[in-house]
Amino acid sequence: MKQKEIFLQSEGDAWFERNRQKVANRDYQKDDPMAAAILEISTTASTQNKDLHILEVGCGSGGRLAWLANTLRCKVYGIDPSAKAIEQAVKNDIEAKVGTAEVLPFESSSMDILVFGFCLSLCDQQDLFRIAMEADRVLKPDSWIVIHDFFAPTPIKNEYHHRRGMYSYKMDYRSLFAWHPYYSCYRHQLIHHETKKFTDDAYEWISTSILRKKLSQHE
Ligand SMILES: C[S@@+](CC[C@H](N)C(=O)[O-])C[C@H]1O[C@@H](n2cnc3c(N)ncnc32)[C@H](O)[C@@H]1O
Repeated sequence: MKQKEIFLQSEGDAWFERNRQKVANRDYQKDDPMAAAILEISTTASTQNKDLHILEVGCGSGGRLAWLANTLRCKVYGIDPSAKAIEQAVKNDIEAKVGTAEVLPFESSSMDILVFGFCLSLCDQQDLFRIAMEADRVLKPDSWIVIHDFFAPTPIKNEYHHRRGMYSYKMDYRSLFAWHPYYSCYRHQLIHHETKKFTDDAYEWISTSILRKKLSQHE
């Protein structure tokens, strides 16, 4: 069975239940690299005087999206395999759907910012091309991607602690997009997973990457 099916059946809800309290206690203003990246993007000329449309893939119950909706001029959208998490997100006025990253039930060229919040490492690796294609499809020609996840310069496969036979995959997820002439990496920061400080222990790296999609001005 594919990992996405296990997440749709049970593991998405299990993650939601395990982390409900932790997510509720998060301070997005102070402690969230994805929220910080989006706030910074929202100060750039590319987003001025626009109602931003922000999609989080693997959004859980949408805590970050709810915070962004209260903080910025934006409309927020989410997708996650957990029906319980999505029920909660919808109660928080997020346009959220049950599903997985390789089929995004959102219109083409509709999003200004797309966030992958610690979700790509849990996706089936044979879906990565489709995941990149769907992200590119829903993004506007002038838009942004934020990726926050485990990082390794060459791919590493680890057992998923919570269920035997499932894995998380560390790699450089920027490379799904950065090869394309219309995508540029504006920032890539590595820190220690737990301490959130710089570390030379490569095994503990997580990264936050900001990529810009900008179609050529010359077309
Ligand atoms: C580590 S949690 C992070 C949740 C949220 N982004 C956050 O930062 O709190 C990973 C999330 O990805 C979801 N997920 C797992 N596989 C997925 C897939 N193939 N497509 C989309 N989301 C997935 C899980 O259900 C879970 O909510």
